[in-house]
Amino acid sequence: MMKEKLKERAERVNAALDKFIQTKDNPQSVIYDAMRYSLFAGGKRLRPVLMIETAKMCGGSEDEVMPFACAMEMIHTYSLIHDDLPAMDNDDLRRGMPTCHIKFGEANAILAGDALLTKAFEIVSGYNGKYPSRALRAIERLASSAGTEGMIGGQIVDIESEGKKTDAQRLEYLHLLKTGAIIRSSCVIGAIMSGAEEKYTAAADEFARNLGIAFQIRDDILDVTGTTEELGKTVMSDVRENKSTYVTLFGLEKAEELSALYSRRAKDALNVFGDRAGFLKELTDYLITRRN
Ligand code: IPE
Ligand code: IPE
Ligand code: MG
Ligand code: MG
Ligand code: MG
Repeated sequence: MMKEKLKERAERVNAALDKFIQTKDNPQSVIYDAMRYSLFAGGKRLRPVLMIETAKMCGGSEDEVMPFACAMEMIHTYSLIHDDLPAMDNDDLRRGMPTCHIKFGEANAILAGDALLTKAFEIVSGYNGKYPSRALRAIERLASSAGTEGMIGGQIVDIESEGKKTDAQRLEYLHLLKTGAIIRSSCVIGAIMSGAEEKYTAAADEFARNLGIAFQIRDDILDVTGTTEELGKTVMSDVRENKSTYVTLFGLEKAEELSALYSRRAKDALNVFGDRAGFLKELTDYLITRRN
């Protein structure tokens, strides 16, 4: 079962994350508490798993990419802490727990997000493994995918689209950036760190580009059809905040179809990897039918 396979991989990521961010007994100890609170609240660790599995598919190893996988999860967690803030989606529940700002206050939550982002780059820039030039490329990709042409750009378009009529092209762009960008860079970094030829790096990118869109469409669907217990976050948040989503634009049924379409495209892109793509194809099927 994919759920168990994901869990087993997530546990290794959690063990590595735990070493990177430890609590400290100093005057700023609350920042470590807040960072760890959100980081260990129980995410799926999807992006680290995508990076590790792409690396393995390209002939690389889990150990070689683990610092990058942890950095990616820190950036993702920071994006969630800020996404939930009152000024953004204003949500009280995340990963089954009160959101960071509810638990620690807004100022600490903002700083915990900033600190996770900064820690991510401290970790990867301290890379001292076998492939420093690959690492440098990976760091650039990590930064750009989190930035204004990536996740942050997508969050801006998301906010700008609130309460407005959004066409299909803009909505795809929004999803491609806000969620697709770091899903893409997770896979691309896995390929880069494994020394994959350009053809394979491009295929991994094409896979993740489509998976990212399919994944966010599923997230839009679950906002309407899921339960708080399943998701560990507030449902109907998009409706409340007047978001433009695949469900508001196309309706539930068509949104399901589109999610399936993008996931088929994602799997097709993996065909160049032959038998080695088994895990990621199975993961793709799992993700677009997931309930959390
Ligand atoms: C939630 O991401 C936000 C999106 C980009 C859709 P995940 O569904 O991967 O959340 P966690 O990491 O498992 O909490
Ligand atoms: C968030 O999209 C994407 C991020 C970059 C964090 P959503 O706002 O739909 O994510 P959820 O539903 O709150 O997890
Ligand atoms: Mg949001
Ligand atoms: Mg949100
Ligand atoms: Mg959502």
